[in-house]
Amino acid sequence: MRYIGSKVTLLEQIKEIIDEKVCGNEKVFLDLFAGTNSVAEYFKSEYEVITNDILYFSYINSKAIIENNDELKFEKLGFNPFDYLNDEENVSKYKGSYYYTENYTPLGDAMYLTVENGKRIDFIRNTIETWYQNEKLSEYEYYYLVSSLIEAIPFVSNITGTYGAFLKHWDKRALNKLIIKPFSVINNNFNNKSYNQNSNILAKEIKSDICYVDIPYNNRQYASNYHLLENIAIHNKPDLKGKTKIFDWSHLKSEYSMKLKAFKSLEDLISNIDTIHLIFSYNDEGIIKYDDLLMLFEKYSIDGNVKVVKIPYRKYKSKLTSEKIELYEYIFYIQKKEFNDLKEEDKFSTKKVSKWQPNKEKYIKSPLNYVGGKYKLLNQIIPLFPSNISTFVDLFSGGANVGINISANKHVFIDMNSKINEMFRYFAEQDSEELITRIQTRINEYELSKTNEQGYKIFREQYNNNPNPLDLYVLISFSYNYQIRFNNNMRFNNPFGKNRSHFSENMKNNLIDFTNRLHNMNYSFQDSYFQDVDLSNLDEDSLVYLDPPYLITTGSYNDGNRGFQNWGIKQEQEMYSLMKNLSERKIKYALRNVITHKNNENFLLKKFISENKVAVNHLNYSYHNSSYNTTRLKSEEILVTNYNTDTFKLL
Ligand SMILES: C[S@@+](CC[C@H](N)C(=O)[O-])C[C@H]1O[C@@H](n2cnc3c(N)ncnc32)[C@H](O)[C@@H]1O
Repeated sequence: MRYIGSKVTLLEQIKEIIDEKVCGNEKVFLDLFAGTNSVAEYFKSEYEVITNDILYFSYINSKAIIENNDELKFEKLGFNPFDYLNDEENVSKYKGSYYYTENYTPLGDAMYLTVENGKRIDFIRNTIETWYQNEKLSEYEYYYLVSSLIEAIPFVSNITGTYGAFLKHWDKRALNKLIIKPFSVINNNFNNKSYNQNSNILAKEIKSDICYVDIPYNNRQYASNYHLLENIAIHNKPDLKGKTKIFDWSHLKSEYSMKLKAFKSLEDLISNIDTIHLIFSYNDEGIIKYDDLLMLFEKYSIDGNVKVVKIPYRKYKSKLTSEKIELYEYIFYIQKKEFNDLKEEDKFSTKKVSKWQPNKEKYIKSPLNYVGGKYKLLNQIIPLFPSNISTFVDLFSGGANVGINISANKHVFIDMNSKINEMFRYFAEQDSEELITRIQTRINEYELSKTNEQGYKIFREQYNNNPNPLDLYVLISFSYNYQIRFNNNMRFNNPFGKNRSHFSENMKNNLIDFTNRLHNMNYSFQDSYFQDVDLSNLDEDSLVYLDPPYLITTGSYNDGNRGFQNWGIKQEQEMYSLMKNLSERKIKYALRNVITHKNNENFLLKKFISENKVAVNHLNYSYHNSSYNTTRLKSEEILVTNYNTDTFKLL
């Protein structure tokens, strides 16, 4: 549906921001101003989704495509409702109310719809209602049918986009026959939920991990612009007024479309939203000014930081200077709440395991918490590995998220970041409980906390004068984004993670699990550039997993490599040589990489794929399983293997 402020064109940008910020444990995505539900539907492949909108037609659509997970069978009805409702003979036999025809067509002095389509709508809407009242339809079947009717109406409406007015002459599209069509529904196996309330009230009652806020931004009220659809969805046949044939919509007025109330309403809303990640979109032509928005988000951000992405959408010529002025769409991101405040028992909705979520019970998470830690897609990568592995080589092991979760006779973790490896070697030698006590002692000695920046700086100085793995871990635990950054003199220089980073319960548990797992593994951590590694001892049951820096992204995790060698074309090609050599020796490998990102393509990798016997496995499963066209895919993650991922035989 064409809808004012629809965000179908911004989905990828919104996802990019979310993917950059999430830690991997987030479950619930809330879309508070869902409209066409396009954003909610997009994220349904990945998260349990809650939607809300003050308009009822948005709500019934959400009931049908978001809350509902099932392919509907219409068993009680016993026949295909679409065939029945689109059948002209049934329309002509219909004897019920003609309320819609009498109001929205020339029979009621209006030209929103032709008389023929008016009659079809009367027949379809009343028949669906009767079926539902006679218990021939389940709740979701009912919403699904009403929603398919609402979706069909704009295609035959005699308007320029909204129902603020109808055209005085028949537009060609209005003369088409109204046909209702089924649509597809994504099943994410979660208890998704739809609401139909004022968001400012709902925000006080529910929690989420990720909340998307897409308020109206100008003075065009949605209720008056879409009144016809709303009226047909609600179906209580009120008296309609004036030339535009509108019902009394005063209760649906949105404060976000009122100049004097918009900002106050927004502040009230933002202050009450209980979430970790808050994403907000707006544009240059909106009632609330950019600077006011920035100030507001700074105020409610956990650390005062606001990420803003500006997307150009329109240019116009200034009347004064005749200069071209660019207008922007904005996406704001703030972190509102601590990641680790999220307790299972506080969760709003019950959790079921989805196909696309890492199963917390199953995988161990690295005790290094940094953004870009590769935990999230484990459940997609691990099934692509053979199950009987003699030696698992994690060639760019970083936080060791992958290797630690693989069962093999022997594990070799290789990374040029000797500091991380040194830390892991140290962890592996400690009793986990004792390790926690030592960490706690250092925290107490330096009075480290989320707010004590001075203490952090003193501790960092102390570490740089006397570097050791225990203190490095403690330092990282309080540093910005938990990142491990060194300057070229190998002095740790990451700033303080104010109001945010600390050695949390989650990190503590991850560290204990991680250490205990190491105790039961035959492992080695080697500090080495991948070019220098000796892989001569591998046999045919070995697997080399490669997760190098990605040539075409500037992922923030690359920051973890500061002070170490950079990644470029030379390194990329040396890596391909290593992979070719493995294939010649009949040793399996799996390369994780990004093949397209925004407008960039990794041509070298494409060439490598076309010239070698490899399988390409697509990782961001959620995109591929949604109803969206894959041509929109902008960041495409893949796992390239030199073996078949079903048979695990070399190609
Ligand atoms: C910009 S649109 C959302 C567009 C949506 N993201 C999409 O892609 O279709 C804003 C929506 O907010 C709804 N709305 C306005 N004020 C509201 C309020 N106070 N509570 C809940 N919904 C409201 C409108 O009905 C409208 O659907």
